Amino acid sequence: MIQIGVIGAGGMGGRHARNLAHKTPNAKVVAVMDVDVPRAEEIAADCGGAKLFTDVDSIVADPDVQALVIASPDPFHAEAVLAGLKAGKPTLCEKPLAVTIAETKEILETEVAGGRRLVQLGFMREYDAAHQALKALLDSGELGQPILFRGVHVGERFAQPRTIEDVIINSVAHDIHSARWLLKQEFAQVYTQWVRDVADRPETCRLFIGQMAFKDGALGVIEMNTATGYGYQVDVEITGAVGSARTSPAPAPVVKQSRRQFQPIDPDWLVRFDEAYKREVQDWVQSLMAGQPTGPTVWDGYVAMVVADAFVQSAKTGQPQTVPDLEQPALYVR
Ligand SMILES: NC(=O)c1ccc[n+]([C@@H]2O[C@H](COP(=O)([O-])OP(=O)(O)OC[C@H]3O[C@@H](n4cnc5c(N)ncnc54)[C@H](O)[C@@H]3O)[C@@H](O)[C@H]2O)c1
Repeated sequence: MIQIGVIGAGGMGGRHARNLAHKTPNAKVVAVMDVDVPRAEEIAADCGGAKLFTDVDSIVADPDVQALVIASPDPFHAEAVLAGLKAGKPTLCEKPLAVTIAETKEILETEVAGGRRLVQLGFMREYDAAHQALKALLDSGELGQPILFRGVHVGERFAQPRTIEDVIINSVAHDIHSARWLLKQEFAQVYTQWVRDVADRPETCRLFIGQMAFKDGALGVIEMNTATGYGYQVDVEITGAVGSARTSPAPAPVVKQSRRQFQPIDPDWLVRFDEAYKREVQDWVQSLMAGQPTGPTVWDGYVAMVVADAFVQSAKTGQPQTVPDLEQPALYVR
């Protein structure tokens, strides 16, 4: 049995806590931390009466807490991950690992210095059946050498307009990891173009288009529309030397109603990736029981941050950006 403390009891933290408490063998949620006490109380009660905390250091130090889930807002990830690493507690951290390269590097260096993998990152598409089927096809070699990645990642509308930086570091990070994971190629160069969201706020982003070139010759494009007005969708299409393939999520029913025929679209990620979130925490707990996490690593989070930063620099300069060569520590060979 793994006793878990959850940091951040909002949409994702609540989802992970409930999945761990009610859908995951060998897992028990024993503590919940949030600065919003009523939220923490609600999740703690749902998990069968977990202890409540309002600061990170206390939940990390609690002797009953053997492992951590971090689902606080992005700027608070680094502090919590470092606290978990220093306490030697395995941690599932929501993406992004941190919001700057400097913080991400500090986490990487701290984990490498400790000599063992403790942190898994929440790039949950690795647990989505549609993505796994595409990955298996690519790895079988049936499509030949991949030459093109096309990722579409669109959402209905966020409560507030988002900056181009936030769209890239928070959301496009998923697509960056998806491309590396599926193609097994590293980024060489990126280029950003985007459509502004709010007319008199040039930093806001409605639509992001990212182009990329990979070291082994493939090209790619990521489309992220932050305000479709119609719902949430994630799709990937890969073209290989001898064929192409696209993710095929479980099809929604075709509805006929009031002289219209339509297929519903998911409202958000919690619905689209419902199964993947369950499988992610189940697999994480099982891997901890067996010794160490086996999912996306701190290295994956670090590379995603370096590539995201190159996209941000391209957005600021209007120029393509070369992605620096990075040397992968031996700890992260998967
Ligand atoms: N993997 C995915 O598909 C996915 C999807 C959505 C969100 N996320 C990530 O999950 C994290 C949480 O997002 P969310 O949608 O649940 O947000 P949310 O706003 O619903 O929840 C965040 C929670 O953190 C709490 N909080 C605020 N400051 C805190 C602090 N210093 N320490 C601890 N908790 C604090 C808030 O009170 C809130 O309850 C973000 O990092 C986000 O990027 C990942």
